Amino acid sequence: MAMARVPILIAVALVAAAASCSAWEPTIRMPTAEAAAAAVDDAVAPLIHALRPLLGSSGELGSRGGVPCDSWRLGVEAYNVRDWKTVPANCEGYVGHYMLGSHFRRDSKVVIDQAIAYVDNLPYYATHGFGARPYNATSFDAYVLEGTAPVLPETKRLYYKLLKVGIKPVFITGRTEDKRAITVGNLRSQGISGWMNLTLKQPGFHGSAISYKSAERKKLQDAGYVIVGNIGDQWSDLLGAPEGARTFKLPDPLYYIS
Ligand SMILES: *[C@@H]1O[C@H](CO)[C@@H](O)[C@H](O)[C@H]1NC(C)=O
Ligand SMILES: *[C@@H]1O[C@H](CO)[C@@H](O)[C@H](O)[C@H]1NC(C)=O
Repeated sequence: MAMARVPILIAVALVAAAASCSAWEPTIRMPTAEAAAAAVDDAVAPLIHALRPLLGSSGELGSRGGVPCDSWRLGVEAYNVRDWKTVPANCEGYVGHYMLGSHFRRDSKVVIDQAIAYVDNLPYYATHGFGARPYNATSFDAYVLEGTAPVLPETKRLYYKLLKVGIKPVFITGRTEDKRAITVGNLRSQGISGWMNLTLKQPGFHGSAISYKSAERKKLQDAGYVIVGNIGDQWSDLLGAPEGARTFKLPDPLYYIS
């Protein structure tokens, strides 16, 4: 089979990020990417208000009686804090605020702005060889099977950009093959289509996320594709050769997948 050396960008974050937002789905409506960005603070205001008492009156976000939550989150995002199982109990309110307020969206925007600026600069490389709570599987599965996870608007913006410039998006998700139909339906309902590959975990695979995702990237590379970029909300989306020419880490203080 002859295959062109086509630039692709692995976009593993979409499903996971959508899932991570969607715990709050009843309050966050995503009519359009643009409107959602403006509306998100208003939409979640009552919930934020409800969370406020959890934060204490000192203004120190959840730092009393435990780790300082902003420092913990920085450690998570910088991959200094590893193999964590749950958000520290005293940080529930802090993380709730972070996710439902504008902060998570602002942090995501910075990442996606960088990814889009990178895509904008790709044509040069295109002609120069490219420079060479405890996790509950039962309830989370039930949620996945609803197929209602909202797309992260920033990710959608990048996705459309990739299609526009001819980069072929590939999703590599830890979801299992039996969830293909619901995942495809969910993505389409959120305006996401036209990907090259949607790779789900095959039955019987019990290795780590890093070994699974890097092996799938290797298959793409071996098939002649150039991985120009790789974006994910988990470090296990990004680590492991071949990583791709550039990686982007989306924020996710909700869970850790090794
Ligand atoms: C996990 O979720 C299911 C379905 O909601 C529930 O029945 C079960 O008790 C939960 N398990 C734990 C350990 O919380
Ligand atoms: C997906 O990627 C592989 C390379 O890993 C490629 O061989 C295959 O043709 C691609 N497309 C589909 C639809 O699977």
